[in-house]
Amino acid sequence: MKRINEEQPGWSVLLRADPFLTRLAFGLLRPKHKILGADVAGRVDAVGGNVTQFRPGDEVFGDLSGCGFGGFAEYVCASEDALALKPANTSFEEAAAVPSAAATALQGLRDRGQIQQGRTVLVNGASGGVGTFAVQIAKSFGAEVTGVCSTSKMDMVRSIGADQVIDYTREDFTKNGRRYDLIFAANGNQPISAYKRALSPEGTYVMSGGSGAQMFQAMLLGPMISMTGNKKMGNLLKKPNKKDLALLREFLEAGKITPVIDRTYPLAEVPEAIGYLENGHARGKVVITVPGEGAR
Ligand SMILES: NC(=O)c1ccc[n+]([C@@H]2O[C@H](COP(=O)([O-])OP(=O)(O)OC[C@H]3O[C@@H](n4cnc5c(N)ncnc54)[C@H](OP(=O)(O)O)[C@@H]3O)[C@@H](O)[C@H]2O)c1
Repeated sequence: MKRINEEQPGWSVLLRADPFLTRLAFGLLRPKHKILGADVAGRVDAVGGNVTQFRPGDEVFGDLSGCGFGGFAEYVCASEDALALKPANTSFEEAAAVPSAAATALQGLRDRGQIQQGRTVLVNGASGGVGTFAVQIAKSFGAEVTGVCSTSKMDMVRSIGADQVIDYTREDFTKNGRRYDLIFAANGNQPISAYKRALSPEGTYVMSGGSGAQMFQAMLLGPMISMTGNKKMGNLLKKPNKKDLALLREFLEAGKITPVIDRTYPLAEVPEAIGYLENGHARGKVVITVPGEGAR
């Protein structure tokens, strides 16, 4: 399949094996997956004998993190279960920006967060790759959404549907006295005690991204805090699956989500793309383009 590829900071974790424990899952002495890159969009070039869902020429998108990665390349060999037909109203660049980040937001809000209509949801890191999808998906569930980002991104976060926007450079949402039914931490570091303070009495905190310390607090302390009161706290590890990819396709078709793309880089500049992401201030997603794909 010839394709366009998307990148996210998760890859720099795999790329650098930082935190060190990453090696337990992705290769102790050398990387298990030599070519990184999970999210792809492109045209099917050829299919294997057992493939029933796709034909050569089909335009598809998907997440290869469950079937060996390898996205940073002109062609990739993928399991058909990792792919779905690309929506006709979505360009290759847009489609490539969706699978991992939007599935993380979807699973965090819906599965771990039990999001419900009318509830108050705060998205920390609302202006990044995961956060821009989280704001839109939370709105599509009928929640009242507050996004947290820096000054220059406030208008963008409002434009994708946030009802309120908090500038973290001027206001600490954990100290302003407001409480939220669901806090989704796509990014932005606060100690778990601060997140707990900002939750309503039966609120839920879901951590999907941030620093190593934030991750370990959510993984280790979250379950203990959840046992001692009515607040639920924990982390999320996105699991790629066909059902959610199909739902995200529906969201794209219905205009419930529109990828926010900060910039694109050609395949030869993957290191520059990762360097840009590692600064931690992308405005939505960064996309890698592959020559000759004819992206719109
Ligand atoms: N759990 C999973 O399965 C899973 C899946 C995918 C990704 N992730 C992780 O999720 C994290 C986010 O990914 P991403 O693609 O959204 O990253 P990203 O695009 O690099 O996110 C950067 C965003 O975070 C914001 N930010 C930085 N410092 C902040 C702060 N103190 N408070 C609030 N926002 C802040 C930045 O906003 P400003 O520019 O406005 O500062 C920027 O827009 C990463 O750590 C990634 O590894 C986890």
